[in-house]
Amino acid sequence: MRKNKLTIVFWAVLFALASCTTTKKIGSNYPVSLKTAFKNQFLVGAAVNAQQIEQKDTAANRLISTHFNAVTPENIMKAEWIHPAWGTYNFTLADKLVAYANTNGLKINAHTLIWHSQLPAFMRGMHNPDSVRMYFEGHINTVASRYDGKVYSWDVVNEALNEDGTMRKSIFLQNLGEDYVVEAFRLAQQAAPHTKLYYNDYNIEQPLKRAGAIALIKKIQAAGVRIDGVGIQGHWSINHLPLKEIGQSIQAFAALGIEVMFTELDLTVLPNPEDLAGADVNQNTAYNERLNPYKNGLPDSVQTKLATAYADLFTLLLKYKGKVSRVTFWGVNDGQSWLNNWPARGRVNYPLLFDRAYNPKPAYYQVLKASKK
Ligand code: XIL
Repeated sequence: MRKNKLTIVFWAVLFALASCTTTKKIGSNYPVSLKTAFKNQFLVGAAVNAQQIEQKDTAANRLISTHFNAVTPENIMKAEWIHPAWGTYNFTLADKLVAYANTNGLKINAHTLIWHSQLPAFMRGMHNPDSVRMYFEGHINTVASRYDGKVYSWDVVNEALNEDGTMRKSIFLQNLGEDYVVEAFRLAQQAAPHTKLYYNDYNIEQPLKRAGAIALIKKIQAAGVRIDGVGIQGHWSINHLPLKEIGQSIQAFAALGIEVMFTELDLTVLPNPEDLAGADVNQNTAYNERLNPYKNGLPDSVQTKLATAYADLFTLLLKYKGKVSRVTFWGVNDGQSWLNNWPARGRVNYPLLFDRAYNPKPAYYQVLKASKK
């Protein structure tokens, strides 16, 4: 009993000391949090998982309310979770997310209505246009109308494009034809008149795919349908951060009169398998030791490279005042990141600003420093 008490006292003292050093480090030289640092520029968000939404993870909870003013559900609003069987919806976690966001002053970007990945089992491999249309209309109407006024925005369509800018031959394209993206936005606009509507994709900062995205957005606009913004996912690597293309894309998308966002930001520090050119969740590579070089810790040189890459990126984003409306990290801390398991399972990656113990990394301080320039 006595020993237990002593242990509690020991941890309490240690925790207090640790918080002091964190506050001191941030102290007067730095803004106190990410959301304050960028309050005049853009929202700062994080993808949250089920554990975090249910507030089972107190450290994450604290970090989220301190640093972020926007959240995106990492999985729980995807069709496979929210629409598990034909005509059957499960809103339990999404409703909890709405409550959680309300108490913590977080804007929800709901993710995502129409996507070829993480579809419910009953839709996978479906070849019947009539059934696909019923699913498509029913899903958008039901889910988007339920959360209208409760979420801030929707990624209405996710990843409709190929790398060369042509339309991906997804289940939706094959069964509904090329206009399905316009139709998805039209249905979302009817079902969710108070919600911002976005198109979201990876690699659309790259010229060919960017041109495809611009054509798609223009097509939606030409049809008289509302689209409020575009999300560049931002799954990049510290070895190839496409700064030039990012700058060009902000300008090109903003010229369409819509918001530009970075919606799933993370910077992998690990070697990429050679065949990898994007962020397709269906890609998977066999694990091997060469692909997992930092399983016992991140060398200082790589830590610095990550910090510099983040600083460069934020410095660039700050040049486009009024054009970038949100930057969302794909996860709260390194331990949560999907990049520990994609494209190869069981690796140890370090792509975010907070480490596995929820401590700010050098990259965090560099980002704050960039905000002051
Ligand atoms: C990822 C999640 O982070 C993982 O937990 C899940 O297993 C697969 O999907 N692009 C997207 C996101 O739009 O929804 C993906 O999220 C990452 C790539």
